[in-house]
Amino acid sequence: MKLAIYPGSFDPVTNGHIDILEKTSKIFDKINVAVIHNVYKQALFTLEERVQLIKESTRHLDNVEVDCFSGLLATYLEDKEVCAIIRGLRTVTDFEYEMHMAMMNKKLIREIDTIFVMSDTDYIFVSSSAVKEAALLGGDVSSLVPPAVKIGLEEKLKARRET
Ligand code: PNS
Repeated sequence: MKLAIYPGSFDPVTNGHIDILEKTSKIFDKINVAVIHNVYKQALFTLEERVQLIKESTRHLDNVEVDCFSGLLATYLEDKEVCAIIRGLRTVTDFEYEMHMAMMNKKLIREIDTIFVMSDTDYIFVSSSAVKEAALLGGDVSSLVPPAVKIGLEEKLKARRET
């Protein structure tokens, strides 16, 4: 079975991420979305919320599962039969960071290569941070995120306004 891993912060998952999953779920037998629990990075959504939002947004993809990890990706992959790490590429500015990370991961886990998937042109400018910034300033991001994420962002905005 061809199992691939799609790691990331997913704070929150966007339509750009879903596009990558829709493409790669046709190539691999199973995809494990691995949400990082980074204690040093302040996230808008909790780990549990991020996992839940991905689960709700990938219901139409029956070979996609969601899990979480902390620390090194290579350590998380040690006991898994993963054949590829999936990463999306939007612009050339993504490339340098992604290339370094792929090379480091290759050094740490010899057997696993990173596969880069081009984002659809509709999502080239879409990032979780841009979506968060726009939504928390009252912008309409409904075409950029799955419906569950739109609701989640509205709840975060409401909670901020009340405090
Ligand atoms: O969505 P992101 O924030 O671009 O995802 C980055 C992520 C989580 C995939 C990357 O930072 C990561 O794998 N972090 C865990 C630590 C690690 O293994 N780093 C790669 C080798 S230095």
